[in-house]
Amino acid sequence: TKASISIDRNLVVAPINRRIFGSFVEHLGRCVYDGIYEPTHATANEDGFRTDVVELVRELGTTTIRYPGGNFVSGFRWEDSVGPRENRPVRRDLAWHSIETNQVGMDEFARWLKLTDSELMLAVNLGTRGIEAALDLLEYTNHPSGTALSDQRIKNGTEDPHDVRIWCLGNEMDGPWQTGYMTADDYGKIAARTAQAMKTADRNLELVVCGSSGSSMPTFGDWERTVLEHSYEHVDYISCHAYYQERNGDLASYLASSLDMEYFIKTVVATADHVGNKLRSKKKIQLSFDEWNIWYLDEHKDSDEVNDEWREAPRQLEDVYSVADAVVLGNLLITLLKNHDRVTSASLAQLVNVIAPIMTEPGGAAWRQTTFFPFSVTSRLARGEVLDPRITVGSYATEAHGEAPLVDSVATVDGEAAAVFLVNRSTTDSIEVTIDASGLGATAITEAVTLHDADVYAKNTLADQERVGLKPLEGAVLSGGVLTVVLPPVSWSAVALA
Ligand code: AHR
Repeated sequence: TKASISIDRNLVVAPINRRIFGSFVEHLGRCVYDGIYEPTHATANEDGFRTDVVELVRELGTTTIRYPGGNFVSGFRWEDSVGPRENRPVRRDLAWHSIETNQVGMDEFARWLKLTDSELMLAVNLGTRGIEAALDLLEYTNHPSGTALSDQRIKNGTEDPHDVRIWCLGNEMDGPWQTGYMTADDYGKIAARTAQAMKTADRNLELVVCGSSGSSMPTFGDWERTVLEHSYEHVDYISCHAYYQERNGDLASYLASSLDMEYFIKTVVATADHVGNKLRSKKKIQLSFDEWNIWYLDEHKDSDEVNDEWREAPRQLEDVYSVADAVVLGNLLITLLKNHDRVTSASLAQLVNVIAPIMTEPGGAAWRQTTFFPFSVTSRLARGEVLDPRITVGSYATEAHGEAPLVDSVATVDGEAAAVFLVNRSTTDSIEVTIDASGLGATAITEAVTLHDADVYAKNTLADQERVGLKPLEGAVLSGGVLTVVLPPVSWSAVALA
């Protein structure tokens, strides 16, 4: 099987906004406690954060980190999480039926972010709380000094404001599972009022209003329209959340999951633009894809990991990812980049232990899941501008998404340096791809890697932490501006040029 791709230097999607490589840390399971934070671990720093995990996060290359939830935020009282640790209350977290000790809170997390060179994206609680708590949190985090809450922050040891720029107005408020979930009308009104108030305090904030929890929600589309009709002029982004998994052994459909993401993005863009047009607004709403990943949700629903007990840091949502999962994840990231003109912020959900690229064992090792690799390589190599390649390739029939092209790809260019990211969705065949990259002016291949394995279900586990990793993409050739690669079946690959 063969394919050809033409990369035109002028077909620019958008300049790369590093926020597209964001991630998400929620107080859920062992993401924070026994994940990024484990004060008794040999590598823990003075705040109790594991520095081996910090190193892996830096290698992963995440940028903006959404915090502290997720469903968790809809019951969160931020005041519990600041001040002397010994005075912080222990609370029940209804979202994950867990005990929250509040030993990690706003100020410690902001310090952790500095270690990882990341930006904070903060969510306010619109489930059990509202405008006043959101404004208080904003004052605590962003006001320089001289007011009750900014002085409290200084007294708590943080002299400079955290200066959080991007804020989520609640989380998944369309979901019946959400504490305080609402109708689109009710949520649109409270989101608009909260946004208006927050921007009265600081008109340069960037605010994300909740879109649908998934494209299969019964209210999908209508939710976005109604919420934006209320809030359009007060917000900057609408959120999208999507999780994928292989179902019923249908690998072919699973490998085409990014077609659903594409449909999701196009629908939300059309809806947002429809509302903007109706309102005669000059503004365009951006998409914040602030939860996306592989999640074996069906299997978790059948397990009792979220049960009636009240436990601290229970093992919840600890998916172990395969090679196929990593290929799908790499393809989802390609899709986000292809739509980067409108999706300008995104968060891989989540970061450590909970549906995560990084796993840890208490007192023990930290290691990379298969999904770590396409993310880290893309974050490292994608620079400058995103280009939309023209791909000529055959397709295959899928049960879930109709006809799916066998190959997907995106390219980036930054002066003389370029990168091409490719996925082969065929479960059986290698595909030779001829890429006309002559317009990019590159003369050499500086890196060519692939993620594939004869066993598409191979995984990295505690017992075998390096079973799966990147391999050289053998046989990649650049000659006269034409790049030729052979993509193994079920593979994700990246080629860097200079
Ligand atoms: O990422 C896990 C959960 O998925 C989040 O808490 C929630 O927002 C979504 O349903």
